[in-house]
Amino acid sequence: MTTFTRNDYVIRAIRPDEWERVKQLRLDALRDPVAHLAFLETYEDAAARPDSFWQDRAVHSGTGSPTARQFIAEAPDGTWAGSVTLLVEEAGTQDWAGFPVELRQGHMVGVFVRPEHRGNGLVGALFDAGVEWAWERAAERVRLFVHKDNTRAQAAYRKLGFEASGRVVAFSKNEAEEELEFVLERPS
Ligand SMILES: CC(C)(COP(=O)(O)OP(=O)(O)OC[C@H]1O[C@@H](n2cnc3c(N)ncnc32)[C@H](O)[C@@H]1OP(=O)(O)O)[C@@H](O)C(=O)NCCC(=O)NCCS
Repeated sequence: MTTFTRNDYVIRAIRPDEWERVKQLRLDALRDPVAHLAFLETYEDAAARPDSFWQDRAVHSGTGSPTARQFIAEAPDGTWAGSVTLLVEEAGTQDWAGFPVELRQGHMVGVFVRPEHRGNGLVGALFDAGVEWAWERAAERVRLFVHKDNTRAQAAYRKLGFEASGRVVAFSKNEAEEELEFVLERPS
């Protein structure tokens, strides 16, 4: 466990040329003990992707992209300690599950903090950066989906002001399991 506080990290958007570090952080996240609940992708699927996939991802969610942004937390030793990614969903489109998007909103995905950096408020610093970017992009709200059994993540989101909207969707890796939509409304 580190003794860092949230102010010890540099929170910043990734640059388009940082695809190798984007890949490494994602592969590490997919080896987390709760990865089977937290992420829709498996480690094996991600590890098999070609470099071009990660290069595209870094361009499409790096600085300069208007539609998505990945924020990372850089620890004092340069480690990427955690990450969140904001996708902009436009009103009038369909979301990834085929449901209509009724208003312009941010969709938070890929939430991950390395185990040794948990419990120190870092997730709040990452959320602040992601949510602020969504408001700058004129989002009306930010939402995310969290597995019903991922109680630690749910507790973290509630502390950060997110609330369950009541919407429940099937977990795509196992339709018998459920994910809950959590929402943060834009402050008036
Ligand atoms: C989700 C995640 C980013 C949250 O970051 P974190 O630093 O662990 O969050 P915090 O410690 O600030 O908040 C978690 C809260 O849940 C509590 N908690 C810990 N284990 C818990 C459990 N098994 N069940 C319920 N609550 C739990 C913590 O004590 C803390 O509350 P407290 O501050 O009141 O003590 C991090 O745990 C993570 O990366 N998990 C693995 C990946 C993941 O689940 N991502 C989310 C996908 S939706």
